[in-house]
Amino acid sequence: MTEASSQSGLSNLLHEERRFPPTPEFAEAANYSADAYESAAKDRLAFWDTQARRLDWHREWTETLDWSAAPFAQWFVGGTLNASVNCVDRHVAAGRGDRVAIHFEGEPGDTRSITYAELAVLVAQAAHALTELGVRTGDRVAIYLPMIPEAVVSMLACARIGAAHSVIFGGFSAQAIYDRVVDAGAKLVITSDGGWRRGKVFPLKPVVDEALEKFGPGESPVAHVLVVKRGDNEVAFTEGRDLWWSDVVDKQSKHHEPEFFDAENPLFILYTSGTTGKPKGILHTTGGYLTQVAYTHHAAFDLKPETDVYWCTADIGWVTGHSYIVYGPLANGATQVIYEGTPDTPHQGRFWELVQKYGITILYTAPTAIRTFMKWGADIPAKFDLSSLRLLGSVGEPINPEAWMWYRQVIGGDRCPVVDTWWQTETGAIMISPLPGVTAAKPGSAMRALPGISADVVDDQAQPVPNGGGGLLVLTEPWPAMLRGIWRDDERFVETYWSRFAAQGFYFAGDGAKKDEDGDLWLLGRVDDVMNISGHRISTTEVESALVSHPAVAEAAVVGATDPTTGQAIVAFVILRGSATEEQAAGGEQIVTELRNHVAKEIGAIAKPRQILVVAELPKTRSGKIMRRLLRDVAEHRSIGDVTTLADSSVMNLISQGMSSGKAED
Ligand code: WT7
Repeated sequence: MTEASSQSGLSNLLHEERRFPPTPEFAEAANYSADAYESAAKDRLAFWDTQARRLDWHREWTETLDWSAAPFAQWFVGGTLNASVNCVDRHVAAGRGDRVAIHFEGEPGDTRSITYAELAVLVAQAAHALTELGVRTGDRVAIYLPMIPEAVVSMLACARIGAAHSVIFGGFSAQAIYDRVVDAGAKLVITSDGGWRRGKVFPLKPVVDEALEKFGPGESPVAHVLVVKRGDNEVAFTEGRDLWWSDVVDKQSKHHEPEFFDAENPLFILYTSGTTGKPKGILHTTGGYLTQVAYTHHAAFDLKPETDVYWCTADIGWVTGHSYIVYGPLANGATQVIYEGTPDTPHQGRFWELVQKYGITILYTAPTAIRTFMKWGADIPAKFDLSSLRLLGSVGEPINPEAWMWYRQVIGGDRCPVVDTWWQTETGAIMISPLPGVTAAKPGSAMRALPGISADVVDDQAQPVPNGGGGLLVLTEPWPAMLRGIWRDDERFVETYWSRFAAQGFYFAGDGAKKDEDGDLWLLGRVDDVMNISGHRISTTEVESALVSHPAVAEAAVVGATDPTTGQAIVAFVILRGSATEEQAAGGEQIVTELRNHVAKEIGAIAKPRQILVVAELPKTRSGKIMRRLLRDVAEHRSIGDVTTLADSSVMNLISQGMSSGKAED
């Protein structure tokens, strides 16, 4: 963002005068009232103790928080529990076994409703199967599945036996799987032949095969690959390694006696992009994580498990799916919808058809989806009965006030509170969000830290900015669902999150934010080299490394350019090697296509640059640092800012000419 555009953005935000308080009826019936802020402020740890008691513990903890080895936290010290018992068994034991846990809707229209009692059996059998395949407490299991019930069952089965899952988003490449399997040392991979997307079954098992082929003889930590049959894709089986899910799982006992694990037993690792090329394995543990996802799901979404039908449209491959499809909703005994496919299959009203069909009351989706629906037009949702909806949530990136208003009016019929929830893979659970029964929300603002959470906006010197000011978002006190580290990289954990404000002990989130005149928070996006593409994090360095791994590329610079639908889009500037330059002169289009596909192959389709521009030179300072700010100006079609620190100021003219000729556009 240039100074000028961020300044005008700021003044717009600060002049937002619309307020949307809950109706008296909503406030009256809400799960949390304004008292929650007070009681949490008075005694934060006692507040978290109360939230933790919403779960079933096998053994009570002796200390709420041990922060003596900061930033390595321990929450609910000495407590033991089982996450899958909390998500499943305890609801059955309480006589709610007949309640539907999951209404699954496949993209082709096949459906399957699973009660809590049925889910208990599925998880028990899968847990036995994992044990039979040699998975033990403390091991890691990689999960590479589409949005089908087996994804949820697999995660809960790991949790049941105390093994950590590492879910890999189904859009990631063989290389990405390989990197994650190596880093986590996964013993087992759970995948499927494929999953339905836009009317076709996209392949998954072949991608796992390709990933595992990268291991030399005797090098792979993976003993078995368990394959769910979802479509009719042909799959090749490696004898002794690969097994059908149905062969191994279905024959198992329907009862599984759970063990109880320490509150700090690893629950999962989830890889996310940082500022280097190597993704970080974000580590979450059991007791604190489950406490906060259950609490926030209850508080921010005002869940009434007896009557609500909840739908989070995220994929299990991202943290939103972990926290607000699997652990939060199931710990709370919710009834939810899981949908496999895309919003435009077979028609652009599919989401609204689902709302109508299942009587969905709470919808949690992303700004990029909302902007897409806006583009498709209000007449599409207007064809469906959306009157069951009573609360709307947003996550993944800043929601612009226009999208917020559209969501509220067109989808929510101007009656549903909208909660814009800020959090990260690292925070594990929602941190900043309106409390729907309390907060008079402003379109585009995530408002305040939830009760129990301490956030602030500070300047470079760690001083809180006054109302009306902007700076860096920090979390000033530890929270139960906080990441416990980066898998096998303590140093990077300390360096990335805790070094910038080490003296104050603040967690540095990597986001810019502003406080408005009332002290409410407005998130402004990343301040580091991490892009946010449709709510998904991808680092510029990761894409640059993928580009330079292609033999034709000498150098690459990548920026995230503002995009009206996806929030940001990837724009790459590449210098080709001498030999490739001639080829490029012969057919520039061809090399651009090849490079875009190469990035998709290296990382996954989500990382495919929207645009690649072949350039002769990159703008660099005299010390050789690439000036991304200038490239962003070009990519966003702005007049180029200050070039005085450039080693060669003519470079920018050439680049912007290339951009406006637009020849690299898709
Ligand atoms: C980054 C975290 C949280 C689950 C999905 C993404 C951005 C997330 C918001 C929001 C403004 C948001 C931030 C954050 N972000 N939610 N409501 N308003 N920005 O998880 O992949 O770990 O990405 O997403 O930049 O740092 P993630």
